[in-house]
Amino acid sequence: MSLEVSVELAPIGEAAARVGAPEDQAKPRTLIVFAGAELAFGSATRAVLGEAEAEVKRAAGFAKFSGKSGSCLEILAPAGLKAVSRLLVLGVGPKPANGDTAPAKPFDDYLALGGQTMGRIGAGASALTLFDFAQAPKDAAHAAGQFALGAYLRAYKFEPYKTKKKKDETEREGASEITLAVAEPDPARAAVAEQQQLAESVTLARTLVNEPANVLGPQEFAQRASELSALGVEIEILDEQAMTDLGMRALLAVGQGSERDSLLVVMRWNGGAKDAAPLAFVGKGVVFDSGGVSIKPAASMEDMKGDMAGAAAVTGLMRALAARKAKANVIGVLGLVENMPDGKAQRPGDIVKSLSGQTIEIINTDAEGRLVLADALWHVKEKYKPAFIIDLATLTGAILVALGQEYAGLFSNDDELAERLAKAGEATGEKLWRFPMGPVYDKLIDSRFADMKNTGGRHAGSITAAQFLQRFVDKTPWAHLDIAGTGMGSPAGDINQSWGSGFGVRLLDRLVRDYYEGEK
Ligand code: BES
Ligand code: MN
Ligand code: ZN
Repeated sequence: MSLEVSVELAPIGEAAARVGAPEDQAKPRTLIVFAGAELAFGSATRAVLGEAEAEVKRAAGFAKFSGKSGSCLEILAPAGLKAVSRLLVLGVGPKPANGDTAPAKPFDDYLALGGQTMGRIGAGASALTLFDFAQAPKDAAHAAGQFALGAYLRAYKFEPYKTKKKKDETEREGASEITLAVAEPDPARAAVAEQQQLAESVTLARTLVNEPANVLGPQEFAQRASELSALGVEIEILDEQAMTDLGMRALLAVGQGSERDSLLVVMRWNGGAKDAAPLAFVGKGVVFDSGGVSIKPAASMEDMKGDMAGAAAVTGLMRALAARKAKANVIGVLGLVENMPDGKAQRPGDIVKSLSGQTIEIINTDAEGRLVLADALWHVKEKYKPAFIIDLATLTGAILVALGQEYAGLFSNDDELAERLAKAGEATGEKLWRFPMGPVYDKLIDSRFADMKNTGGRHAGSITAAQFLQRFVDKTPWAHLDIAGTGMGSPAGDINQSWGSGFGVRLLDRLVRDYYEGEK
């Protein structure tokens, strides 16, 4: 699927000519400008607005618009700008930082601004954006890239199954066009092109999450992951026979009740030194989680088509890394299964032997994600001896109880890795909150009949799930991200209006870029 908006770069010096050109009724044109506190414009903006600046000031007075970040002033058919059908003035005033007493921070969130701008422009519109500010960004090209990323992500819609046209006449058809007028188009063009690739990778993950399970089973998911070979990603797919031969009985047990066979996808990107240990990412890919024999209540069960958001994020990440030719060796593993109740399904009380040799007593067939990950984690650890393993999983409802949809849960046996992840989270806005782990929690999953059981009872549900996973990574530096609250069912925001958020792609791309690509 292609992006719903295209972003072109143009020299800001030519913007005045475009605005002054004769009106084209067939193609209404929106002009976007940015105003800081007290309606402070950049000098290029003032030059383009010319005498229309007085008109803007007057309208701002009536609308009580003062340039507050997030606010917007709209003027239709501005008298002084003949070729402009609609002038949007977006506020980029300083944001008050944490409470009233702390000093205000200068505006610097160009990602959110791109999203807000796209939201104001609307679908199918054409807009000229003067990327010009009273207070110039520190790195203009980088800021333009972030702005474009925000716009791309905001514009994403998942509507392949809507056959009726929108009734709302104001929603035009087709992709929007944003012309970004900047002082130096060349570096900005490069930054925008790079962020476009990242946006395509995030929206790939979103689409995988949004697709219904009848369309996206393990086979279809593996097929979409295979398409990354066009970017130079190596793909290996283990089918049920191969996994049986290896001894992945925990993963296979989950898929036993499904008509559709389980698959393990291994993606490789070799952009680093030949002998460098790979970075490994493992995603829970339960294409649908009915709960199995321990079946879930009907309410919201449809959301469980998104129980593969971890695998979707890993797929999006591999796409992002390959597209920008990241200087790192990376493995992406997807455990693709469907959890269904059936005559062949596993039962509570069953005991399965995992690939690691450890045995697991199944208490609740709805605690299936950890069974899938147990074998996937052990497999990557043994076969690839990675520098670290990070898994992403919509693992527990309990993480939603603890963190809501703001933060994903972070669990780790390695302080350095955890800290780097948390920092990448702050930098990208895909935020993580670390939870405690320890042997005291381990006791909660001791089993009477086997080496462990697959649930730990009501208390500390997200932590006992992480303790379970830890038993399958040994001493490998490892982090587990519980994205049950952030990967799907996402609230609408500046840069995302989609149910499936693509959470984790930007975060992990940033982690790799900032810490694991050597000297640059
Ligand atoms: N996929 C669910 C977790 C989930 C819940 C994801 C809500 C997204 C939104 C997972 O497989 C599950 O069912 N977990 C159980 C574990 C329990 C049985 C120990 C849960 O959280 O209730
Ligand atoms: Mn479940
Ligand atoms: Zn699940």
